[in-house]
Amino acid sequence: MKILVTGGAGYIGSQACKALALHGHEPIVYDNLSHGHPSTVKWGPLEVGDIADETRLRTVIKQHRPAGIMHFAAYIDVGESVKHPSLYYQNNISGSVSLLKTIIDVAAVPVVFSSTAAVYGIPQSLPISENHPTDPINPYGYSKLVIERVLADLDRAHGLRSIALRYFNAAGADPDGEIGKNHEPETNLIPVVLKAARQDSTVSIYGNDYDTPDGTCIRDYVHVVDIADAHVRAINYLLNGGTSCTLNLANACGYSVIEVIKTAERVCRKSIKSKVAPRRIGDPPVARSIRRNPRRCSSDAINQRLIEEGLRPVGQVCTPRVTPTASTTQIHCHSSPLSSVSRRHCQPTPAASSLFQCPISRMCSTVAMSVMWSSASFSTTRSSRSLLRICGA
Ligand SMILES: NC(=O)c1ccc[n+]([C@@H]2O[C@H](COP(=O)([O-])OP(=O)(O)OC[C@H]3O[C@@H](n4cnc5c(N)ncnc54)[C@H](O)[C@@H]3O)[C@@H](O)[C@H]2O)c1
Repeated sequence: MKILVTGGAGYIGSQACKALALHGHEPIVYDNLSHGHPSTVKWGPLEVGDIADETRLRTVIKQHRPAGIMHFAAYIDVGESVKHPSLYYQNNISGSVSLLKTIIDVAAVPVVFSSTAAVYGIPQSLPISENHPTDPINPYGYSKLVIERVLADLDRAHGLRSIALRYFNAAGADPDGEIGKNHEPETNLIPVVLKAARQDSTVSIYGNDYDTPDGTCIRDYVHVVDIADAHVRAINYLLNGGTSCTLNLANACGYSVIEVIKTAERVCRKSIKSKVAPRRIGDPPVARSIRRNPRRCSSDAINQRLIEEGLRPVGQVCTPRVTPTASTTQIHCHSSPLSSVSRRHCQPTPAASSLFQCPISRMCSTVAMSVMWSSASFSTTRSSRSLLRICGA
């Protein structure tokens, strides 16, 4: 089926396109290329356009007639959102409202929305479950929360079904080396640390006086391939009649800034210089999701929730084919044609639970994937296999 992927030329959207193609869908990328790269669009056509441009959107939707939408397009830099909130409100809120309005007008197909753990703000309790109160402390998080609310209202008013996936920190790169992170300037910790290792420069640690074991911020890193996989599961679930919901996508394990730097040193086999800098406005001390089985992660969360809610993807016959890859064990699913059976009549079955063995990604392997993607020429950089052996992954 055709799936319109807004922001599909970006870091996570491009991985989702690859995952969609692997699962038999055709991704149609809609991106204004403000932060994306045409070279990452490899699994379907690229339609250049802005989500705020309703006329262009209407034309593209009418031309391709997608069965569903994955909405990644947004500005994503927390610090920039604090400095320039109106940019974020305009792009992430107004742009998304234009997109959703067009979808309702042209074809009310289901939507998977990229939300974020930033909607929670400073955690009142840990780990963070989906029921944790939302109270974002930066405009970026607030912009995402507003769209979650808009989606809920559109479901009530127009029956537009959606899943908001609140992911924590996306990390890693494609294990096949086809696509990876390419942000300029780069703000995410792992690539920043690897760049410092490569260039012998110094990493800034923003605050070492937080109430955490080593005083630095703790984040829950989710492998980008797991995020992409979860998106495919989410869209399949909606295409099969599933109802709207909101889910965390997380590893359930937090790593501090210092732990990430130490892991990178271990992977790269060299020491990395760091210095303590003042805290950044908008940074919560800890963002870690609910602890489930710590050896399971990421897309496991979405499947776990489907089971908890007594749901499974209706009409989908998946034949798990377990393929060990460098960092993960991936399950490829082959979907049958959609069923018209209402999801309400479906109960979780032992067969369904066999789907819920999910990719395992750990910090070391995530860092290793990023090292490979960054083409770092460390004297000790080896093939992916030996890197992963170094990591014990
Ligand atoms: N990276 C993370 O750790 C993380 C964590 C939580 C949530 N998210 C969410 O995931 C989504 C994707 O993040 P990413 O890391 O891939 O970011 P990215 O910047 O790599 O990708 C975003 C893409 O959207 C495009 N875009 C931006 N505004 C647009 C507009 N108005 N019209 C059309 N295209 C537009 C950009 O060109 C880019 O290709 C975002 O919605 C982000 O909020 C990311």
